[in-house]
Order: sequence, then C-alpha cells, then structure tokens
Amino acid sequence: MAHTEDVSDPLAALAAEIRACTACPLHRGARQAVPGEGSAESGILFLGEAPGYNEDVQGRPFVGAAGQLLEEGLASIGLDRGKVFITNVVRHRPPENRDPLPEEVAACDVWLRRHLELLRPKVVVTLGRHAMGKFLPGESISRIHGRPRTVDGVLLFPMYHPAAALHQPSLRADLATDFEALGRLLANAPVATAPATPRAIATAEQPAPPRAPDQLSLFG
Ligand code: URA
Repeated sequence: MAHTEDVSDPLAALAAEIRACTACPLHRGARQAVPGEGSAESGILFLGEAPGYNEDVQGRPFVGAAGQLLEEGLASIGLDRGKVFITNVVRHRPPENRDPLPEEVAACDVWLRRHLELLRPKVVVTLGRHAMGKFLPGESISRIHGRPRTVDGVLLFPMYHPAAALHQPSLRADLATDFEALGRLLANAPVATAPATPRAIATAEQPAPPRAPDQLSLFG
C-alpha cells in the first residue's frame, strides 16, 4: 500500500524510514511494515510484540481482537488510542505469527530507540513478555505485571499482552486491575520533557492496593 507521509512531521518521517527498513528478513514475507501510530498527548507509549494478520493488512498496530481489548482498557482510564502511541518490538509480521527471533528483535531496536527519543513518553507500557524483555530480560511477567519501575531512565509499566488475556480468560481481571493502576500512575507521574528520572520513579513506585473481587468488572 502506498503511504504519503508529511515528512515535515518527525513522527511521519520516522514512519517512512521504518516502512523502508530491510534490516532483517521479516520484510520479505510481510505485506508492509507497521511503524506504529498515535500521539504522545497522554505521555504513554504502548509496546506490543509484533504485527499479526490484521495489522499486516492494514499497516496499523493492534487492529484485531487484541486491539479491541487494548482499547477497552484505555477507555477504562479515560483514554483512546489517538491519545497514546502504540507500536511493537518488531515492525514487520513474522511468518505464521511465530515469536520474533532475537536477531529480528535486535534489528528493530533502532526504531524503538528513535520513537523513545522523539516521543519522550512518561510511561512505557510493555505488553507481554517480548516487550518486557526489551527492558527487563529474564524477568517473569506473572511476577512483575502491574508494578512500575524504572530502567535506564525509562518508567516502565509491564502488563500482560491482551492476546494472552483472550486465550486465558483468567488473566482478564489482572489486565483490568493493571489498567487501573496505570491510570493512578499517570495521574501522579510528573510530565516528562526528558526521559523519566530515577527520582520520578521512586515516587511512582507505589504497589497498587488490592481490589475487591466485585470491582473486577472490566473486560467481562
Ligand atoms: N499483537 C501485537 O503484539 N501487536 C499488534 O500490533 C497486534 C497484536
């Protein structure tokens, strides 16, 4: 699909660079790159794993069933996808939706770094273990989801991937609870004009209070 970006807009110019990327073999099997979309208005960057079928067809991130769940979560904290930036660890669809290989993830690193430099998000929400692994290799998502922490000056908020919650309904309550905690974090996080500082994280690193079961209504 042809894209006519306004290259005077730095985000659009970066998207054009990503669309032209041939740094790993994934571009050969994909219909097009999925650079990411949205804005830095809310100060949040969501980082998923990789485009799937629908994303590959449309050239947009999270437009399938997992995207619907993500949008529900955003709505639960008064946001919509236009107010956040959404992208993935790899920007081309892996064949058969397989996990991205370490060398593919490494080849795409540059684009994540460029997006972080450009958007300077207050919070990076990692969705699933591949996105978490970019910042916290070796960690376990079931252990650390929903708890903010800072790594290399970036305030991170790890969450389960919405697709995991689709396949494993017991994770939906966790996802809903984590969105609530994210909402509280954003309400308290300082507005970032530079990457979050360790000091900013120290104040934000309050564990979320436990929720009563009857509050767990989100996502069914
Ligand atoms: N899953 C992802 O990780 N990214 C998408 O863009 C869609 C589904």
